[in-house]
Amino acid sequence: SPRPLHFLRRGQRVTLHDVPPDRTLLEVLREDLHCTGTKEGCGEGDCGACTVVIGERVQDTDGPAQLRYKAINSCIRLAHSIDGMALWTVEDLTQDPHLHLPAGKDLHPVQESLLQCHGTQCGFCTPGFVMSMFGMYQNHAGGSQLDRQGAQEALSGNLCRCTGYRPILEAARHMAT
Ligand code: FES
Ligand code: FES
Repeated sequence: SPRPLHFLRRGQRVTLHDVPPDRTLLEVLREDLHCTGTKEGCGEGDCGACTVVIGERVQDTDGPAQLRYKAINSCIRLAHSIDGMALWTVEDLTQDPHLHLPAGKDLHPVQESLLQCHGTQCGFCTPGFVMSMFGMYQNHAGGSQLDRQGAQEALSGNLCRCTGYRPILEAARHMAT
């Protein structure tokens, strides 16, 4: 049988046994863990509906190890490839005690920003947009600002068939300032 798969979620170590080597992260999330907030659109890495964020420790020369956040398409990512990493799905933004939501808020700043800019659209593409924005937000938290181009790049892998991008981009820039 395959070796166990470990990752960190909501600050807790998750261990899954018997995950076949060819199982995708999306299948593990939706079918094994019943976390259906992450959607399956194209299933081929083209639409971004299945976006989740992984966190990897990276060691810069001299400096302390840092967590680098990356939005990935879980439909084309093998579950075992995230072994030892941290993982966030759209459900985790309000469930991870380490994310420190702003005082008195029950939404993550990314979700708050989308709400305020009327950037929430259908339930299919929105979770993916939220997660791409989350990855961008976390990498810039407490420091460098994000410009229009950075926001555009971070959202370039997310498709909306209704082409309602303007409020979403606005939300991404709003959140960044
Ligand atoms: Fe479309 Fe994964 S479902 S990129
Ligand atoms: Fe979701 Fe267009 S695909 S609003």
